[in-house]
Amino acid sequence: MTTQDFILKSYATKVESGAVKWESPSNIALIKYWGKKEHQIPENPSISFTLSNCKTITEITYTKKQGDAISFDIYFEGQLNEAFKPKIQTFFERIESYVPFIRDYHFKIETSNTFPHSSGIASSASGMSAIALCLMSIEKQLTHTVTSQAVEKSYFNKKASFLARLGSGSACRSIEGELVVWGKNKSTESSDLFGVKYDGDLHEKFYNYQDTILLVDKGEKQVSSTVGHNLMFGHPFATQRFEQAHNNLSDLKEVLASGDLKRFVEIVESEALTLHAMMMTSMPYFMLMKPNTLEIINKIWAHRAANNSNICFTLDAGANVHVLYPEAEKKEVCEFIKSELVAYCQNGHYICDSIGKGATQL
Ligand code: DP6
Repeated sequence: MTTQDFILKSYATKVESGAVKWESPSNIALIKYWGKKEHQIPENPSISFTLSNCKTITEITYTKKQGDAISFDIYFEGQLNEAFKPKIQTFFERIESYVPFIRDYHFKIETSNTFPHSSGIASSASGMSAIALCLMSIEKQLTHTVTSQAVEKSYFNKKASFLARLGSGSACRSIEGELVVWGKNKSTESSDLFGVKYDGDLHEKFYNYQDTILLVDKGEKQVSSTVGHNLMFGHPFATQRFEQAHNNLSDLKEVLASGDLKRFVEIVESEALTLHAMMMTSMPYFMLMKPNTLEIINKIWAHRAANNSNICFTLDAGANVHVLYPEAEKKEVCEFIKSELVAYCQNGHYICDSIGKGATQL
């Protein structure tokens, strides 16, 4: 598919108003997206676990208006929120050619997260995907599709992911579950334009995989992901890194089918540390890990060695640690987290999550 396929050409102009509501999850990448070209096209493929509990719930009420200026208000947890406006304005400007009705209506966007806003958990994936899904439901209400339901659903999800990507790259991986690939590659069905549900075999060891998010630092990040991505331009290790992501994805595909957890741990932890190594070797260089991030990583390594455990960690662009483990090891790992890792979390806070099936219309 090309970008042309996502341009809405005609729609009903008589609809005066309506409302739509979605909840959309966050996701955690196993192979990391870090570096992008123009128009939110990734430099390398990525794959993520869709989460289950960390979600954004968004309702959009739309009302016909005069004039063609983009017009919306955003309420976060019941309060009018001016701080979120510029990001949504940019998002709407980027997607207007694909959803031209955006200029015909005033939108009241009401949104909230199931996780605390000040948790340091990026809400852009769940937040942008929830808005994209709401816009797709509005598109559906304004058009009369005559195609079969299956085709309609497939197009709906693809375009929702396509729009979400233009809001925040990783958001395109939040529409479906349980694993989603984004970025062209030789190993899996994929696209640079939208996330695709992983179609490879999945060993039962990965069913209901667990992710406990240790909140090490709830503060605002010093360097945004967007700035970090841009620092991959001219980065001394960029070419090798992008190639490594392709190789890791091809290896991970075999691991997901075979259930080789030892190799899974190696790929996932290496990806997390490579991501942060890219940050530390950018110019200007920066570091998002905190002392407690390293304490936790060392504890996880010691615990794994001593207990023949399959616990491992991954990181996103921040100091928090995602602890990943099979459901079969849940009891043992939870005891370890409580007795040895919670001490490194800010105010002892952590979130228990697991693989999820994707967004739901409410
Ligand atoms: C480290 O999707 O937040 O979490 O496209 O600029 O909005 P933008 O970036 P964003 O980058 C996320 C990067 C990451 C890795 C990943 O999720 O793959």
